[in-house]
This record gives sequence, structure tokens and C-alpha cells, in this order.
Amino acid sequence: MSRPWWRDAVCYEIYVRSFADSTGDGVGDLAGVRGRLPYLRDLGVDAIWLTPFYRSPMADHGYDVADPRDVDPLFGDLGDIGALLADAHALGVRVIVDVVPNHSSDQHPWFRSALAAPPQSPERDRYIFRDGRGPSGAEPPNNWDSVFGGPAWTRVRDGQWYLHMFTPEQPDLNWRNPEVRADYEHTLRFWLDRGVDGFRIDVAHGLVKHPQLEDNPGGFDPERMGHGEHDRNSWDQPEVHDIYRDWRRVLASYPGDPVTVGEIWLRDDEATARYVREDELDLAFNFRLLLAGWDAGQLRRAIDESVAAMAEVGAPTTWVLSNHDVARQVTRYGGGEVGVRRARAAVLLMLALPGAAFLYAGEELGLADVDVPPEARRDPIWARSGHTRVGRDGARVPLPWSGDAPPYGFSPNGARPWLPMPADWAPVTVAAQERDPGSTLTLYRRALALRRSQLRLQPPELGWLPAAADCLVLQRGDLLCAVNLGRAPAPLPPGRVLLASEPPSDDQLPTDTAAWLLASR
Ligand code: GLC
Repeated sequence: MSRPWWRDAVCYEIYVRSFADSTGDGVGDLAGVRGRLPYLRDLGVDAIWLTPFYRSPMADHGYDVADPRDVDPLFGDLGDIGALLADAHALGVRVIVDVVPNHSSDQHPWFRSALAAPPQSPERDRYIFRDGRGPSGAEPPNNWDSVFGGPAWTRVRDGQWYLHMFTPEQPDLNWRNPEVRADYEHTLRFWLDRGVDGFRIDVAHGLVKHPQLEDNPGGFDPERMGHGEHDRNSWDQPEVHDIYRDWRRVLASYPGDPVTVGEIWLRDDEATARYVREDELDLAFNFRLLLAGWDAGQLRRAIDESVAAMAEVGAPTTWVLSNHDVARQVTRYGGGEVGVRRARAAVLLMLALPGAAFLYAGEELGLADVDVPPEARRDPIWARSGHTRVGRDGARVPLPWSGDAPPYGFSPNGARPWLPMPADWAPVTVAAQERDPGSTLTLYRRALALRRSQLRLQPPELGWLPAAADCLVLQRGDLLCAVNLGRAPAPLPPGRVLLASEPPSDDQLPTDTAAWLLASR
């Protein structure tokens, strides 16, 4: 049996608002992405993942979908996505779209008709409406919290409450209702018929809730990433798996191995692995690398435990160091030059691992999070948390393409970008880095080219060779990846260096550096 393309693919996430603006309104769009496809081909990625571009009032920048089968005018139209797909395929780049089945926008026609209809009506049954608690029903139906802060329930005029695990503008759909399931199948087919190569599934572990909506044990801590025991009744219910068995049957009727990759923010590796059993999703995001600090022990445990959990179900592992929901790795690793150095080493470690890797636009430029001033913040988390959580804007600032001043070629006419861009980004633009053999962009290009030409030939099994303290030496077939996370230079293992995140000297690997070597035989 031939191996499906996605098993070891490198997929590049494009936060569409922030990638490239073709119209000059300061917001990225589909034609902007299309214009930059040659850049992505030259970078060497196998696929791109586009964040939601569907019709939306943009309460959560498109993760609040009013019509999942149309394009929002802010991003273009159906013609633009068709042209983007055609051009990407001609360049050998696959395209994954992001579906948001857990909730719709409050402006979706279904939700509007639910509000207009009485309690217990079929219109309300597409969402999760309940009576409140307390003598007059003035208390929310249960104790669930919204992921973005505040209660997960909002009361409507006739006194009922509806559930929204995110903002009130994102009512949760009722996946126990057959009409909801049938309509989503229609959405999947709509995009597959247009030629997409797969789906990233937003909040894939959340579609089904506890049947009686029981209270959660509690202890919610927004700083602790991922869902677990404290909120077990809101997520990861057994019936959610049936949905993905149905979806698999839909996707299997299309050629070209379209992929499904679920966003599954669970703390439990085994629970995550259940989503990628043979008859369910193809891939599940694995956030263990992203959550690990710059520490040899933590990184090794994250890798070993992820590989072991996926091996149980025979699915490939996925790896990711950042996305549009978290601080960029340069910032997480300490910021400044140290942060960039560690991020360059970390990507060599990630790209040496077996399985699929996901990159987030801008990491190939070594971008750090931007400190967005309070008045310019746009993430709903900032307002919903009563200005206690800064939110995700820092990692969503538009990409710098060229030039010496904002918007650095992001918009055609110097328009103001939707989030302010820093004054000191001239050295990190794509144009500046393309000319520099030592740049982070050059490192990513070389790494991706070598991954194609050398790493894919290596067996998926990985092992660890003995290494100095605070160092890791990973082996896959003939390939070694050595990483020095310590304070002093460490000896390089014997072999021919293929690529290093900083130049090695005298067979020593400098601190915060990784190298790929072909092992000596
Ligand atoms: C996912 C998305 C995030 C969004 C949320 C609600 O976690 O990645 O950006 O806010 O779902 O749709």
C-alpha cells in the first residue's frame, strides 16, 4: 500500500488576516496568499493550512462562521479560493482548510431563527438551549466556564440560556441533532468538490457535551493549556468519535487521500490517540513540543511519550512549535538573540522527527511576539477576561515582506495593518533574509530541502544515543540530530554535518545549537 502524502508532510499554517493583503485594506486575503504561493513553494512546504475565510462577523476573526460554504468579502470570494487552489496545485502545494464544527456565529441563519423560535422548538434544538437554575432560572444551567473567560452561558429574552464555550457570538451546535450532522457533511463535500486536500478541524474534541450537561469538577486555570479532569464534562465525550467515523466515510469517497487533522487540546496523550484510530481522523495535533520548555529532559519526554501514544493506534505523530493561539517560540524560549537561537535549534529537532510537522507563518523569519499596545488589541480574550489576559494578538501581527517601515510590503499601498507592526522589523523581512545565507529563512529552506532529500529516506523509528549533560542526540537510520541545550559547547557526535543552526567549530556544538549529521559507518 502506498503511504498517504500527509504521513510525513510539512504543513504551513497561514493566518489569512496576517499573511498578505492584496486590496490595501490592511487585512490579509485569499488573493494575497495566492500571490505569495511561489514563496511557499520555494520555502519547501508540502501543504498550507488556511485559517477560516468563510462568511463571518469576525467576533473571533473568522472562527465565528455565519456561512461555512461561502467566502467572506473581507477575504475575497469563491472565485479567489478556486484560483488559489488551482495555482497551489500547479506548484505542487496542497491546501487544507479549517472547519469550525463546534459552533457557528450568532449571525448564522440557524441561530437567528433559534432566537426567534420558542423554547423546545426544533430551531432551538440545533444549539444547546436550557432553562436556568434557581427559583426564577436566573442562574446559568451549569458551572461551565468559557475558554475565553466568564460563564459559558448567555441568557436570551424569554429566559432560556444558550451554551457557548468561546464568545457569546459563537453558540455551540448540538451534535446530537441529525440535521447538524447532515449539514456538516454537506460542508465537507462542498469543499472537497472544489478540490481541497483536507481539513483542519477546530476544537475537534469538543463537539459533543456530557448528555446531562453535568457540572464540571472545576479548578479552571487559564494558564494551564489543554482540557482535562477539571472540565471533563465539556470535552472529549465518547460519542464524539462516531462523528469522525462518519467523516472518514465521506473523505474515503474522494481521491488523493484528503487529510483530516484534529485540533485536540487534551492533556492526556492516550485520550488524544483515540481520535486517530484506524477508522477516525488521520492526524491529531500534538502540542507536547510546544508546551515543553527549553530543556533536554522535557523535550525528550515530550517526544518519547508522543511517539509511544500514537504507536498504540498505528497513527503517525504530529509536531508543532507554534500556531496562532500561543506565544511564538522565540518569545517562549526567552526572546531576543537567545530566543531566536533556541528557536532555530528547536526547528531542526522538530523536522528530524518522524511524522507530520506544522509550521506557523512567520516562524521561518524568526519572528518574536509583538507587544501590542492595549488600545490596539483585537483578540476577544482581552475584553472577555476583563483585560486580565492579553490574548493572542502578539503572535498574529502581519508578516513583513520587504522595505524599511510598516507595513513592510504586507499591503500594496502602505495601508495601516489591522494590528500595528513594529518599527524595527526591517532586518527580518523576507526580502532582507532571502539575501542572507545566515538568516533564519535560509536555515528553514535548507532544512526543508534536506528533509525532502534525506530524511524521508530514513526509517521512522527513532532512538537516542548517549549524550553529554543537557544534550540530546537523536538517531533515525543514518541521520543524527544533536542538540546542545547546555551552557557550554559539547562534542559533536562523529559524522558529516549536513546542516547546523549555528556554525560548529572544532567538532564542538555551541550552546543552544542543533546539527544534522550523517552518521559515520
Ligand atoms: C480554536 C482556534 C482558535 C479559536 C477557537 C474557537 O482553538 O484555533 O483560534 O479562537 O478555536 O473557535
